[in-house]
Amino acid sequence: MSKELDEFKSKCDIAKVVSHYVSLEKVGSNYRGLCPFHEEKTPSFYVNPDKGFFHCFGCGAGGDVIEFVKKIENISFIEAVQRVAELCGIDPPLMSKDTFYVKYTSLMEKIAANYKSVLLSVRGKKAWQYLSKERGLSKEEVEKFTLGYAPIDSDIVRRSAKELKIDENTLIKIGLLIRGKNGRLREFFRNRITFPVKNSSGRVVAFGGRALNDEEPKYLNSAENKYFSKSKILYLFNRNKIKDAGFSIVCEGYMDAIAFHRNGFENACALLGTGVTKFHIEILKGVTRNILLVLDSDNAGINAMKRAAKILANEDLNVKVLTFEDSKDPDEFFSKHGKDGFREILKKAVEYWDFYVQKSLGEVGDPIKALFRLRRSISWMDSSVLKRQLASKAARILMMEEKDVMYELQQPLKEKKEESQIKHTENIQLNVDDYIVYLLFYSDEMRRRIVEHLEEAIISPFAKKALNIVKSGITSPQEAMRLMERGEGERFFQIFTKGIPDSNAEKIFELCVSKLEERKLKHRIEKLEREMISTPDAKLKAKLMKEAMELRSLLKRKGGASHGRK
Ligand code: CTP
Ligand code: MN
Repeated sequence: MSKELDEFKSKCDIAKVVSHYVSLEKVGSNYRGLCPFHEEKTPSFYVNPDKGFFHCFGCGAGGDVIEFVKKIENISFIEAVQRVAELCGIDPPLMSKDTFYVKYTSLMEKIAANYKSVLLSVRGKKAWQYLSKERGLSKEEVEKFTLGYAPIDSDIVRRSAKELKIDENTLIKIGLLIRGKNGRLREFFRNRITFPVKNSSGRVVAFGGRALNDEEPKYLNSAENKYFSKSKILYLFNRNKIKDAGFSIVCEGYMDAIAFHRNGFENACALLGTGVTKFHIEILKGVTRNILLVLDSDNAGINAMKRAAKILANEDLNVKVLTFEDSKDPDEFFSKHGKDGFREILKKAVEYWDFYVQKSLGEVGDPIKALFRLRRSISWMDSSVLKRQLASKAARILMMEEKDVMYELQQPLKEKKEESQIKHTENIQLNVDDYIVYLLFYSDEMRRRIVEHLEEAIISPFAKKALNIVKSGITSPQEAMRLMERGEGERFFQIFTKGIPDSNAEKIFELCVSKLEERKLKHRIEKLEREMISTPDAKLKAKLMKEAMELRSLLKRKGGASHGRK
């Protein structure tokens, strides 16, 4: 018990637990705050994360993380352990009190060993052939990962239980034995390759089972219970290897995690058929802030990576994403390109929020539609800081002005649109689109020139609408205004009353043209820079860099000129 408890405490981040109750500031390698156990105005309460204890120089209170929670919550020792485990996102230590846990994990481990023996015996011939021939695994690897085989007519669970004197009712309760349609008892895993799943204390708490043929479902997990929940566990999670590597790789499948480990990336772990949950993040955060998501490169995988956004939004983490062009998952990638190939592609991992914006903007050709899509995809987001960062990324990708993108992203979804648009027009800030709208109603000649030279400059839905109205033959602002929705109409009205500071149409036209050129230039620079980053050819890199720099200085000169005119 005490060894397990020590291990548990060493995994807990005491500063994190304490800061749940006390606001702490960092002083050197310690933290300091106002003592929660006595009244004080100047902080004399210290937390030492390395040694895992707290101490108050004012009242003398002190102890380890469990003592702290016990004291502050006024709960029992056992309850405090439980609570600390929750706060740290790790499994509580096996309390000798929980005799069923010991029984359960012993059983699971016995079953795992027996499944493995079957795999390496005649009964497992077909499964072993599959693993060795089709998946390229060796006997040593079967040992290392304790892979096994549950035969078609499996009696392995019952046999293992008998050895440990565990009765059938218990097996039914934990779902390893099920009653078939004919009323007969059958084992849950039949004709499947088995993967034992260990918890953070290294005890087997569940199995994954892969069908040998095309049978559906391809994978099965054993039943969830008090000791196993797939949303709270990561397959092959290895704290020390992650610490050593300085980052953790998170992939989707059992075989992917195994592929990583076989190729020397033992800092990889796998989800068990769920998306990334906040529990997974808690587990990972206990070891590292650097996470690399390498989910399948199909739509489901990409959507899963996008869905992680809600969980990652409020985390101070460095998350990167890697996708493959020619492989559906890491396992396939390794069999094609080996570990060196992976080391190479590792350099191409992109920052999570870049990936997120890119994927939310998607393949939509029209930048406005793309922007709407992004707006929808982040409508849940509260953090305006993150929103602003995303706006700036989106602005670069769409080659729009950052403030326009931000404006659009701040618009609530349809339901609340009217109310807020009115608010926004109170403080109208004109952009290129607004100038174009002004010009669209200026003269026939101007309209013709805009359609000819500036149509591609129009990006906001509002200006697009104005253009369509003009194209339909309506050229009087008063008439056009009647066709606008309420918020749009207000903006339109502003443009034609006090909006345009310099009403010289020719000058405004020039300004719009130069803004469009600027945007195109930015686009070209962007493209050059992307090429520059991805080419391994040093000469070409230098050439692209020079070109990009020239364009940059050109842009600067242009920018200066048009700013002067504003
Ligand atoms: N999964 C699941 N249930 C399924 C299919 C998949 O729980 N019916 C989970 C499993 O954890 C699996 C992961 O999702 O490892 C990835 O599934 P998939 O990409 O379909 O399988 P692969 O990992 O590619 O499996 P394999 O390489 O063995 O074909
Ligand atoms: Mn696969």
